[in-house]
Amino acid sequence: MDLKQLRNKFTEAYGDGGDIREYFSPGRVNLIGEHTDYNGGHVFPCALTLGTYGIMRRRDDSTLNFSSANVRLGQVVSVDLSDISYKQEYNWANYPLGIVWAMKEKGITLENGFDMMIWGNIPNGSGLSSSASIEVLMAKMIQDQYNIKSLSMLDLALIGQYSENNFNGCNCGIMDQFAVAMGKEDNAMFLDTSNLSYQYAPINLPDEKIVIVNSKVKHSLVDSAYNERREQCATALKELQKELDIKTLGDLDIETFEAHKSLISSDVVRKRAKHAVYENQRTIEAVDALKRNDVGRFGELMNESHISLRDDYEVSCDEIDILVELAWETEGVIGSRITGGGFGGCTVSIVKNYAVDKLKEHIEEEYLVKTGLKAEVYIVDIGDGAKRIN
Ligand code: GLA
Repeated sequence: MDLKQLRNKFTEAYGDGGDIREYFSPGRVNLIGEHTDYNGGHVFPCALTLGTYGIMRRRDDSTLNFSSANVRLGQVVSVDLSDISYKQEYNWANYPLGIVWAMKEKGITLENGFDMMIWGNIPNGSGLSSSASIEVLMAKMIQDQYNIKSLSMLDLALIGQYSENNFNGCNCGIMDQFAVAMGKEDNAMFLDTSNLSYQYAPINLPDEKIVIVNSKVKHSLVDSAYNERREQCATALKELQKELDIKTLGDLDIETFEAHKSLISSDVVRKRAKHAVYENQRTIEAVDALKRNDVGRFGELMNESHISLRDDYEVSCDEIDILVELAWETEGVIGSRITGGGFGGCTVSIVKNYAVDKLKEHIEEEYLVKTGLKAEVYIVDIGDGAKRIN
């Protein structure tokens, strides 16, 4: 599918005429800084050139029409502006609908409805943020179509997160929506989630590629396990606050954590907190290494991040560990780790140009033998955040 075909589908479904506008919103990959965004720590994601395309036109009445060329084409989910609530049967459309709801909660009420259609090429369930991509796309389309000048791109990210937390029920942090809204070609974003300050960091790697491998597994209970990790971090913080004047786990350096970790009563909760503290420090160091052009150190920190997510935070799984080990044993791989929320999804690796084909072959052969599954390998480019394209 390309944009022209999507536009044809749009006019087939809703008719021609009017001010039809086209938009794009990326997926994201996080290079390092995992499960730190709800702990006031740092993250280092970038937007991809893979993403979601959207077409929208305003209507004169109060109907909101949603359709996706990825699912049962032609099936339109229609909702009236006066009756916005989460409904199971809306399925994927709860993501864009949640944005209309979240805007209303923030005092932005649409006076009339719209027709919209999307199509995306982010592999399903891969942990590359297809839901954040749709959320921010929707927010961008509304901002542009209804000419809401007061909303910045950062506001659109926050509306996306608010909707995901309160309409769709996943208690995620801000990383995904931030990366999707604020992305910049050839740059990663070094975001401090304690105050949302950020810097763009050019990813200038002439000798390496960023390689994403999709394990094709998504284990169940992802949302509940995610929310459980959040609660464990909150418990650790409360126990540490008995002696320490801190607001988040991200306020701690390694020495202070080590000197006070015995305040945390449960072994498991202590491991979770250890990950959050060490991962935040690793992220700060990794960005520094990149600034010095020390890609080797960046890769070592990616590997340490994986070990910590596997052993202390326990959000990896056998299939992902196999992919990471296959990468680690391939000469020319600088670093490799799980990326995103975990329990399946994708790995991200930095790989010397000359080793990319070798890694691809190694994974394609061995992963199939070991798991019976066919991994998919993508060599990705870093793209822009959500935007209008016509
Ligand atoms: C998911 C969440 C993010 C972040 C990551 C883990 O992608 O949506 O907010 O917590 O997991 O780093």
